[in-house]
Amino acid sequence: MRIVIVGGAGTIGRRLVPALRSRGHDVVVAGRASGEVRVDLASPAAIEAMYREVGAVDGVVSIGAHGALDEFATLTSAALAENMRAKFFGQAELVLTGQRHCADGASFTLTSGIFADQAWPGVTGGGVISGALHSFVLSAALELPRGMRVNVVSPTLVGDSAETFGERFPGMRPVPMDELVGHYLSCVEGESTGGVIRAYG
Ligand SMILES: NC(=O)c1ccc[n+]([C@@H]2O[C@H](COP(=O)([O-])OP(=O)(O)OC[C@H]3O[C@@H](n4cnc5c(N)ncnc54)[C@H](OP(=O)(O)O)[C@@H]3O)[C@@H](O)[C@H]2O)c1
Repeated sequence: MRIVIVGGAGTIGRRLVPALRSRGHDVVVAGRASGEVRVDLASPAAIEAMYREVGAVDGVVSIGAHGALDEFATLTSAALAENMRAKFFGQAELVLTGQRHCADGASFTLTSGIFADQAWPGVTGGGVISGALHSFVLSAALELPRGMRVNVVSPTLVGDSAETFGERFPGMRPVPMDELVGHYLSCVEGESTGGVIRAYG
């Protein structure tokens, strides 16, 4: 399959891209400043341009764009909306625009995160983004045309980030990278749709 991976040069991508290539897939990595194709999830025009450049792909995986940390006492709805721009609206846009460009039966695999289900200080935006993505995927799975599928992987802290972010989230057990990569592979190569895959270790 020909698969475009937005954010494929990042922490999760560095594991997922070789795994997909070793299974014979033709992978195109996209990012703002990394990979073979330029795209910024915060820009609907850039997403449209990416699809025109890569053609009718069989799969789209999104593992770019984080939610930012926030401070609830000073949080505003405008800041919340800005926080949602790339990770929520950008991933929604990948599907909404992608349904007109991708091949019949193509799959979309999005990425959310554990804060949809588990409250933590400083991640109101992260929780709202991920909860919204879970709801979006349920509706999109019903409505996508031409046999297209959509799923979302919701990781906890991932194994390769444990050293960097572990202190920020004490007591959070990381999900092993092999297990996480296995979830993405199942979404791309399987037949499921409308799935919220909770990779909580
Ligand atoms: N790491 C974790 O522990 C963890 C846990 C739960 C959820 N997640 C979620 O998993 C996803 C991937 O995480 P990660 O740790 O692999 O991220 P990462 O290491 O920071 O890599 C992110 C990748 O996405 C690209 N990117 C960033 N912003 C983008 C944008 N606006 N448009 C297009 N590409 C963009 C970056 O390349 P450029 O700079 O070239 O654009 C980079 O290749 C994120 O949504 C993150 O919130 C991660």
